[in-house]
Amino acid sequence: MTITSWLAASRRTVVLTGAGMSTESGLPDFRSPRTGLWARFNPSELATIDALHHRRESFVEFYQYRIRTLQQCQPHDGHRLLADWERRGIVQTIVTQNVDGFHQEAGSRRVIELHGSLRTVHCQRCGQAKPSFVYLHGVLTCECGGVLRPSVVLFGEPLPEKAITEAWEAAQQADLFLVLGSSLQVSPANQLPFVAKRNGAKLVIINWEPTDLDDLADAVIHGRKIGQVLTELNEQLAEVDP
Ligand code: APR
Repeated sequence: MTITSWLAASRRTVVLTGAGMSTESGLPDFRSPRTGLWARFNPSELATIDALHHRRESFVEFYQYRIRTLQQCQPHDGHRLLADWERRGIVQTIVTQNVDGFHQEAGSRRVIELHGSLRTVHCQRCGQAKPSFVYLHGVLTCECGGVLRPSVVLFGEPLPEKAITEAWEAAQQADLFLVLGSSLQVSPANQLPFVAKRNGAKLVIINWEPTDLDDLADAVIHGRKIGQVLTELNEQLAEVDP
């Protein structure tokens, strides 16, 4: 059986995406050598609650940089293909570690954001959300006087309960689990392939670099760009399931 035939036969396909899904949109990932964000910035200094409260200037500058970069980028064909696969019933759910909102912007409707979203900032005190571009205009506090922060999960913070529950349910019910562009180094997202596998799913990992879960997978593709791989799978699908 090939990945294409698994995609065509699967009735419950779940896709887990990581930052590698968005590098072809122009957004850096985190752990690619040299180009990854963590090769240039120190996450423990910047992407933490402690940084928000005690290193506020560098925290704000870092997230202004990420929000500005996000504004200059947009979904690529790979995002649009996944949305098309959802419309055609080939993919049921996308669980993403990404905070760029590109899956939704490309048209995917069933998207579970495990790590929140950089599209909004919200008040630590009253919870009011605002579009994240306000951060670029120096709006850093809420009308209530509370501190505004990006609506992303910072290191050391719990993930949104609802997202976790829905992601676990999707993985438990999957008969095909596709990982796209993740190093699978961050928990609890990297537990989802185990959950899917334990419940009988086929596991496919498509990632430029090898991952620690490759041995668990039924198929892996390394050293190829996701956009290109998805395009080829889509062409093969047209032959298998016209
Ligand atoms: N095609 C295929 N693979 C790619 C591509 C591409 N175009 N671009 C990058 N990759 C691969 C890289 O080789 C890397 O292994 O995508 C992977 C991205 O891994 P990370 O940078 O670790 O990103 P991710 O797995 O999403 O990180 C998880 O870590 O810092 C936190 O909250 C952050 O959500 C993030 C989490």
